[in-house]
Amino acid sequence: MKQFLRLIATVCVAGLVCGFTAPKDDVEKRVEKLLAKMTLEEKIGQMNQLSYSREQPMVSAAKEGKVGSILNLVDPAVINRIQRAAVEESRLGIPVLFSRDVIHGFKTIFPIPLGLAASFDPAMVEAGARVAAEEATAAGIRWTFSPMLDIARDPRWGRVAEGSGEDPYLDSRMAEAMVRGYQTDNLADPTAMAACVKHFVGYGAAEGGRDYNSTNIPPTLMHNVYLPPFEAAVKAGAQTAMTSFNDNDGIPATGNRYMLRDVLRESWGFDGFVVTDWNSAGEMVVHGFAEDNKDAGRIALNAGVDMDMTTGAFINYIPELIEEGKVKMEDVDNAVRNILRVKFRLGLFENPYVEEGLTEKEFYAPDHLEIAKKSAEESVILLQNNNNVLPLKGVKRLVVAGPLADAPYDQLGTWIFDGDQKHTVTPLAALRDMYGKDVEIIYEPGVKYVRSNDTADIPAAVAATKSADAVVVFVGEEARLSGEAHSLANIDLLGAQSQLLAELKATGKPVVAVVMAGRPMTIGKDLANCDAMLYSFHPGTMGGPAIADLLFGKAVPSGKTPMSFLRVVGQVPLYYNHNMGGRPTNRPIRLLADLPVEQNQTSVGGTSNYLDVEHTPLFPFGYGLSYTTFEYSNIKLDKEVYGMNDVIRVEFDLANTGSYDATEVAQLYTRDLVGSVARPVRELKKFDRITLKAGETKHIVFEVPVSELAFYNSELVKAVEPGKFQLWVAGDSNSGKPLSFEVK
Ligand code: NOJ
Repeated sequence: MKQFLRLIATVCVAGLVCGFTAPKDDVEKRVEKLLAKMTLEEKIGQMNQLSYSREQPMVSAAKEGKVGSILNLVDPAVINRIQRAAVEESRLGIPVLFSRDVIHGFKTIFPIPLGLAASFDPAMVEAGARVAAEEATAAGIRWTFSPMLDIARDPRWGRVAEGSGEDPYLDSRMAEAMVRGYQTDNLADPTAMAACVKHFVGYGAAEGGRDYNSTNIPPTLMHNVYLPPFEAAVKAGAQTAMTSFNDNDGIPATGNRYMLRDVLRESWGFDGFVVTDWNSAGEMVVHGFAEDNKDAGRIALNAGVDMDMTTGAFINYIPELIEEGKVKMEDVDNAVRNILRVKFRLGLFENPYVEEGLTEKEFYAPDHLEIAKKSAEESVILLQNNNNVLPLKGVKRLVVAGPLADAPYDQLGTWIFDGDQKHTVTPLAALRDMYGKDVEIIYEPGVKYVRSNDTADIPAAVAATKSADAVVVFVGEEARLSGEAHSLANIDLLGAQSQLLAELKATGKPVVAVVMAGRPMTIGKDLANCDAMLYSFHPGTMGGPAIADLLFGKAVPSGKTPMSFLRVVGQVPLYYNHNMGGRPTNRPIRLLADLPVEQNQTSVGGTSNYLDVEHTPLFPFGYGLSYTTFEYSNIKLDKEVYGMNDVIRVEFDLANTGSYDATEVAQLYTRDLVGSVARPVRELKKFDRITLKAGETKHIVFEVPVSELAFYNSELVKAVEPGKFQLWVAGDSNSGKPLSFEVK
């Protein structure tokens, strides 16, 4: 209610003062007017972002106009005191922009972004981002460092948790949804917060999956795969962008003039501002790309960075750099313009303060929790369901086991600065609360925490299971095993978790594994030790109730894999939208075990495979089962030949042939058979969540403009190349029969 009143009051004020969204010209006039009054010191103050340490130094910096933005402060009272110093005591009264990593929720925590991507539900993701913005702005945060749009093809990299996985199309749709949810179409609304697309760019391709490592992405791949989600987010109105830590082909992102000026600003028309990542200007010295922080400031500004996060490279050195003619005043002015533009758009000048005294209860509002539950439900992927063990039926005694059954902190996942584990509803708590009246719930964790090798408690879990109807085992990763700087070279289940599953399976009772993790783990061998497996990327505050309903069939799984699942980590990188290569493996190969000794050189066929493991993924991109079954039929294209300006229209029937009402994520893929550069074997071009009653069939039409078949060629020119194509409509990236068409 308080939030509602706050909204009404501030919207009215903003509406009176500047109209709902200030017209573009007005903002530009205000920017110019203010800029004309600013001294160089005041300008470089705006270009400086500080991390909150203690109040007094921040108040002084604000008063002296030495700070444009502060990160990591969420106390409204302190925010207001610093803001008062900026607005009422500094010479020009420019408000400070308070920022935070609000990555998958502020207080109410949603599934990690990789889980959100598994929902293939941009509308739900937008609703979640809206909740995050409402809660964060209530604490005074008007700028979030989200969405993270780094394409990731390597699950060893801990930060796969923070992105949308391996596919640029899915990532783009998630990017737009988050930007819309955070920003709304009226940035001046006090519940809107500016989005920040990150990490620009290539960060997800860290060599060896080691965070912060160098990347080597060639130009066409960069333009066809890594850049599109950023472009989509910019087109959706994202106000800020953050440079990444990595160097690509030797150029650190914070000093990459081509990316920041030619691509982001010139080609995409971005008019917000660019911030460095934490000390990524200073780290150019470590990269061996800048001599010292002063040189780093020169490189970053010349490359097109507007605001420096924590290095101090701008505030400390720009005056000297200008005097020495190493940077231009014009570039400083433009940087300040970009920053002020966003501050004006956010309505910060009209509405710089935040209401104090909001209570925790208002953060975890019932509708927020409801959206968090729905998001968690949609993000869970059913990977295996032998003998239709799920949903649980006729179960009177249920054993709940595993280290993550009741781990309120860990199920929240990475990057939860503000989410409070005391609001987490764990699966154990939810099962007891929601199903405990009819089902006896026996909790025997077996293994205390994810990394524990202690097997002493396994016998108790086994004994309990022997006298129960089924066991649900919650395994996976602690929150801290993924996220920034938390990469792993081994992505199997850790500790005694696999042993726990194996010993429970040996009881002969139905075993359901629920994996909660920050990445797709190598769970191949564990599949043999469970009848069913639900894969839940860390599901957030309401993960427990969502999973409880899925287990008992009140909800039906609909999530699909946003990244390929590996059989073994040695397959990295493995992604569905790879090129064909010249010698693809297209028939079963003989693996080590059946390879006779002293075979000749060509004995395994000379194709692109491994001798010791299938080259295919354990589960392909876009994969996920349901409690029901779906059938695609009558898939038809409206034409055989399309012109460049046509829209491809695909019709098909989707039938729910099982006995549960459920939702299927229908996916459309294409392949460009011959290109001036070789094209991927499949590319996702469209998807939709389609809900069908048991037994129902729907006639569906998907439309894809021919222009969306365009790609960047080796000259970096984007165009549709005429020729032959294939198209699939299917439930994952590895199914379906291709239709053929031509573009002329
Ligand atoms: C470093 C991370 O790479 C980035 O994602 C984050 O937004 C900043 N730190 C600020 O916390």
